[in-house]
Order: sequence, then C-alpha cells, then structure tokens
Amino acid sequence: MRILSGIQSSGKQHIGNYYGALRQFVDLQNRGDEALYFIANLHALTTVRDPAVAATLTRETAMAFLALGLDPKRAILFRQSDIPEVTELYWILGTVVPLSNLDRSHSYKDKLARGISADFGLFAYPVLMAADILLYGSDLVPVGRDQVQHLEFARDWATKFNLTYVPGYDPADPTGAKTGKPGILKLPEALVQEATAVVPGTDGQKMSKSYNNTIDLFGDEGEVKKRIMGIKTDSTPVEAPKPGDTPLYQLLKVMVPESEFPAVEASWRQGGKGYGEYKKTLLAAYHATFGEARARYQALQKDPGSVDAVLRAGAERARAVAAPVIERVRQAVGIER
Ligand code: ADP
Ligand code: TRP
Repeated sequence: MRILSGIQSSGKQHIGNYYGALRQFVDLQNRGDEALYFIANLHALTTVRDPAVAATLTRETAMAFLALGLDPKRAILFRQSDIPEVTELYWILGTVVPLSNLDRSHSYKDKLARGISADFGLFAYPVLMAADILLYGSDLVPVGRDQVQHLEFARDWATKFNLTYVPGYDPADPTGAKTGKPGILKLPEALVQEATAVVPGTDGQKMSKSYNNTIDLFGDEGEVKKRIMGIKTDSTPVEAPKPGDTPLYQLLKVMVPESEFPAVEASWRQGGKGYGEYKKTLLAAYHATFGEARARYQALQKDPGSVDAVLRAGAERARAVAAPVIERVRQAVGIER
C-alpha cells in the first residue's frame, strides 16, 4: 500500500487541519505502509501572492508536519515544487480532462460564490491535485470530506488516460487481472476521517483560513486564548442546560480526551456552568493536546537547516518513486527523451 497526501501552505495550520487531515497522516505512518506527504506550495500560489509569505508558509507547514510527529524515517516529506515531473504530468493529464468536470468542481464553485475572481490556476487546481496523486502510484489518499470530489476526479481522469493510451485497457479491470492490460495510472482510494470530518470555527462556520475563525496549532499563546475565549455563544443562562450543536460544544467534543468528555457532556446537558468555564476547559484541552508539539515547533524554528535537510532528502526519495510512472506516461503519449 502506498499512502499519499498533501496539505496546502496557504496559511497557518489550524486545529481543523489537524483533526481533519494532519492527525490521520501521522497515525498512518505507523501502519508500516509506504507514506508520502507533501506541502502543496504550488497549489498555495492560487491564493498567496507575496513571495516572502509563500516561502515562510511553506517552511512553517513542513515544521507543522514534523512537530506533530511525522517521522521522516518512516514517511517521505517533501515540497510539491521540488518535483518537476508533477507539472509535466499535470499538463499531459489535462489533455484528457473534460472541461465539464472542472466546471462542476465544488472548490471552484465555492470560491466563485464567495466573489473570488476566477483565474486559470483556480480552475485547473483539481488537475494538479490529480497529478500529485497519480504521479506516485498512490493507493490510499487520506483527506478531509471537502476533498472527496477531487479524488473522484483523479480516478476518472486516470481511467480516461488509461483508456486513451493503454490498448486493451478495461475500466472494469483496472489492475489488468483478467485482461493482462493494467492501467499506467493507478486508481486511488480516498480515506475520509468521518468522526471529525468538519471542525467548526469560532463563529460556527467550518473552520478555515479563509474565514478568520481559526484556532491555530502553533499560534501565539495569547492569541490562541483570545480566540478560544471569543468562541461565539448564545445567551443561555448559567443554570440552564446548554443547547447541543454549537461551536463550543463541537470543539469540546473534538478536543477533550474521550475519557473526560462524558463528564463535560453531562454537565452541559444539566446546566449550572457558564460558557466561560467551558472555554477554560477547552483551553486546557488545547494545551494538553498540543503542548508538546508546540514545544517541538519552537525548537524547529531555531533550526531551519534541519528542516531543509529533511525536505531535500524527501524530494530525492519522492522523485525516485515518481520516475517509473512518468517514464511510462511519456512513452505512452510519445515523448521521447
Ligand atoms: P482551509 O479551509 O483552512 O484553507 P485547507 O483547505 O487547506 O484548509 O485544508 C487542508 C486540509 O485540512 C484538508 O484535508 C481539509 O479537508 C482539512 N480541513 C480544513 N479545514 C477543516 C475543518 N474545519 N474540519 C476538518 N478538516 C478540515
Ligand atoms: N487540495 C488539498 C487541500 O486543500 C491539498 C492537496 C493538493 C492534496 N494535492 C493533494 C491532498 C493531493 C491530497 C492529495 O487540502
């Protein structure tokens, strides 16, 4: 099994990214499968237009992976931009992508709906993501629920590519078990972490860098406290039972350790405690969960050379994984070297 995933370096990593994505990545490295994780800094260019910020966020995203426990001995950590083959595959794959698919892309439609003016990068985003996945022959791609459509696209386009370029390819038999004609591009599966599929932000919308409602993983201590204390609540009196389905309740459910949550839930339903107290509980849970990772992050900040070394070694290994796949693709389409 080859596991692969990426995370955009488009902002500071927040607890939504952790529970929706990063935690799963770190857990999966322990399964003994081959794991590749990358910082999608080319994708981030669709939103980050300041070069100094882009470079800093790329490094910070790498540090976040490492601080949260990604072990470069067990998993390959690299920057998307270090692998030129990915943009080559992106172009070749794009030649079989139906425009109608891109038109109905959720991520694209959501951004348009929020009034973000569309450029080609945003439109083509899913094609680059499919290239990311297919270049390494990935079997399993852990992602948040919002990325599931992108995985479906990657499967569809891999199938289209194989149908176009592999004579005798049967989409009903992608591995060629019966036909003896396996596809060149392997069909990946999404792995969605359902339990915490959407972490709410401080305002109750989905937590997202774009909504200014995040609780950052490695943010300044004072700012984290301010964000948690500022979580939107209603005017339910202290004595009264509290309504479920509020961002504070959902965040407690995600962050408070499983063994302690039943007590929190019982008092929530019974009443007698004010929201301020629950926010303190949440702040304590935040520090209990991320305290060690935050200390590691600070240590990495003082040692940027070690982060660069990890990324360089990772890029070399990732290119080696990609090499046979891109070679078959080139041959299939008639690119001689
Ligand atoms: P953002 O919305 O903050 O820009 P991204 O789109 O870069 O976050 O998401 C990075 C990863 O984190 C994706 O796998 C995504 O599914 C996951 N993720 C982001 N926000 C959340 C959230 N609020 N809840 C759960 N998972 C999330
Ligand atoms: N689009 C993904 C996100 O926003 C990041 C990403 C880019 C990715 N390429 C990928 C995730 C390949 C998984 C596999 O979260």
